[in-house]
Amino acid sequence: MSVHVYGSSEELAGADAREFAARAEEAIEERGRFAVVLAGGSTPETLYGILARDYADRIDWSNVYVFFGDERSVPPHHEDSNLKMASEALLDHVPVGNVHRIRGELPPDEAAEAYEEDLRKFFQTEDVPRFDLILLGIGADGHTASLFPRTPALEVQDRWVVANPVPRLDTTRITLTVPVINAARAVIFLVEGEDKAETVRKILEGDADPRAYPAKLVQPPGGPKWMIDQSAASLLSEL
Ligand code: 6PG
Repeated sequence: MSVHVYGSSEELAGADAREFAARAEEAIEERGRFAVVLAGGSTPETLYGILARDYADRIDWSNVYVFFGDERSVPPHHEDSNLKMASEALLDHVPVGNVHRIRGELPPDEAAEAYEEDLRKFFQTEDVPRFDLILLGIGADGHTASLFPRTPALEVQDRWVVANPVPRLDTTRITLTVPVINAARAVIFLVEGEDKAETVRKILEGDADPRAYPAKLVQPPGGPKWMIDQSAASLLSEL
């Protein structure tokens, strides 16, 4: 696990873009393709914009395969859709090899099964798929992807994608499960803003219960890389 703090969200997004490009190059060189999971929410939008603006011809997008860590139960053009956010900020502007979207318009269980089937076809394996890079955000409540505190998806070990009821939001989200996230070659948390500072402190320095702060369940080999801005790091003592 490593923690990297940046002076501003622009600096953070710039560093994320360099990291994304470096991992894409490495994966394509070694394995012929870069299988990457995009984060939803609002934080990654700046990163996606920089990738579209400055990396359109510096990444071999034809060998980049895009997946999503989670999706809301909405159709693709809905304002809450993570696909819509990522498409408008990035995917509509680069010749990406293939976009594997979560079909949020389907009943959540069906959408989860369909996505798991999509992963099986893409990775051609019965073992837990290994993404080259998974980008994640966190909520102030410690959730990541759509793994919310004290929700059923946290306990799932035998599925790759599940429909996860989230009573607090009165909805059901579709999300990758912990085993898939922890099998990735690299996981990066992108976090910015003072409203996340206490949560970051609890996860990185506190004895937070992982069921109450699910981002703590993210433990890929070597640990996740935290790329955060100064405001989100403002309560960390060990820096
Ligand atoms: C989602 C995300 C979710 C997000 C956090 C942080 O679909 O909402 O996958 O896990 O990363 O909620 O969201 P913000 O970046 O908007 O603070």
